[in-house]
Amino acid sequence: MDEKHWTKQDLQGKQDLEVGIYNKQDYGSFRFFGPTIYIGQMDPVIIEQIKDVGNKARQDPKRYDMRKQLAGNLSEEYNLKLLVQDNDDPIYQEIKKHCARYICGAEHGMAEYQSDHYIKNIEMESMWINYQKQYEWQPEHSHSGHLSFVLYCQIPNSLREEEQHPTQQGNSPMSGAITLSYGEDNTYNTTVKHIMPETGDIIVFPNWLRHYVYPFVSDVERIAVAGNVFTDKTFAGDTKWKDSPYTDKDLKKLNEVN
Ligand SMILES: [Fe+2]
Repeated sequence: MDEKHWTKQDLQGKQDLEVGIYNKQDYGSFRFFGPTIYIGQMDPVIIEQIKDVGNKARQDPKRYDMRKQLAGNLSEEYNLKLLVQDNDDPIYQEIKKHCARYICGAEHGMAEYQSDHYIKNIEMESMWINYQKQYEWQPEHSHSGHLSFVLYCQIPNSLREEEQHPTQQGNSPMSGAITLSYGEDNTYNTTVKHIMPETGDIIVFPNWLRHYVYPFVSDVERIAVAGNVFTDKTFAGDTKWKDSPYTDKDLKKLNEVN
């Protein structure tokens, strides 16, 4: 049997292929193995609204200080749930939309789709804002609730530029990146996923998934909002709903996908 070896010509145009790694620019829901991770883009108008709410919390830091309830080694973390109390607030609706896409993606491979049925059954448990500054970081931790989200209001360009910094010349420049951690180290097993977010991104993951955020050395501010939601867990694995969220057209599409 002829043995086939890759030549440089064979590999031309295939440099982007990375085994087992999904690129940050791929938006959607990923379920290669282990926990499903969703990456989406928030409505920019809502991002501005969230920043405004954060500024209100900042004006009364003692009242909204949430650091004692959170893992972060940060100087400013404020409770936003106290300031956004209406469950139907557009901020929550936008976040729930992405959580619903997570569920559709995790259960049916339809991450582009958000069902009103799912959105109605998602309840916001908590939400807070992190103002991460030079040398501050998030140690490894997990959350409460059922699903957790983190969205990014401000990711300064200098975090990427720090790849040129003398401290970042190893093989893992991570300034300001979030790392999701799952499973045990073993041959051919990947246990971490590093994501360098961009302003406007939202990441959704199961509440129990361990994660952490690396510090940076630039004198800038990285603003992230995190929180947890409760979902109707009876959805999981049940394809015979009494009140199916899908129309016949949706189900036809679902069957085509599978
Ligand atoms: Fe967290």
